[in-house]
Amino acid sequence: MLQTVKTTAVVYYSRTGHSKDAATEIADTLGAQRFRLTVDRYHGPRLGYLTAGFDSLRQRLPQLTSPQPALRGFQAIVFCAPVWTSYPATPMRRFLRDHPVLPGVVGLFLTCGDDSEPAKAFEMAQADLGRSFQARGYLPDALARTPGGQQRVTEFCAALQALVKTAV
Ligand SMILES: Cc1cc2nc3c(=O)[nH]c(=O)nc-3n(C[C@H](O)[C@H](O)[C@H](O)COP(=O)(O)O)c2cc1C
Repeated sequence: MLQTVKTTAVVYYSRTGHSKDAATEIADTLGAQRFRLTVDRYHGPRLGYLTAGFDSLRQRLPQLTSPQPALRGFQAIVFCAPVWTSYPATPMRRFLRDHPVLPGVVGLFLTCGDDSEPAKAFEMAQADLGRSFQARGYLPDALARTPGGQQRVTEFCAALQALVKTAV
């Protein structure tokens, strides 16, 4: 485990578990608190997938059903979510849009089906939040639970920690 940063929050959305696993690994590595975003939509393997894709393409952002995470006082906030139709998943987009003013260092870690960097999703997330992410990382599903995937998480966490140290 890297040196603990007690003031980091990890806010995540996950439909089928990849982002949840990544968020858990990041939170464990950083000693961070996790906050899960939930929505009523997107349940069920087939209809959930179709609704998610349709909403994402139409840029329809759902209401969240999770309680507001209390993010005040954290030095760093990591967002973790899947890529849907080249964009961040709609629940994360909803959250980023509604929280344009966040303190400290912000990082974004995306999970995706493709192996290539989800550049469009990073761009859209920055536009939604209204500021850039100082730390970025992504994990293709094929690398989940492999040493290569672990390496991605470790590198992301190390970059975030370095930013927090210089920001203090
Ligand atoms: C509706 C939908 C659209 C998706 N579109 C993309 C995409 O455009 N590019 C990509 O790399 N992966 C895409 N994926 C794959 C997910 O990003 C990937 O499986 C992710 O790890 C799922 O995270 P989760 O298990 O936390 O929900 C899509 C998945 C869904 C459900």
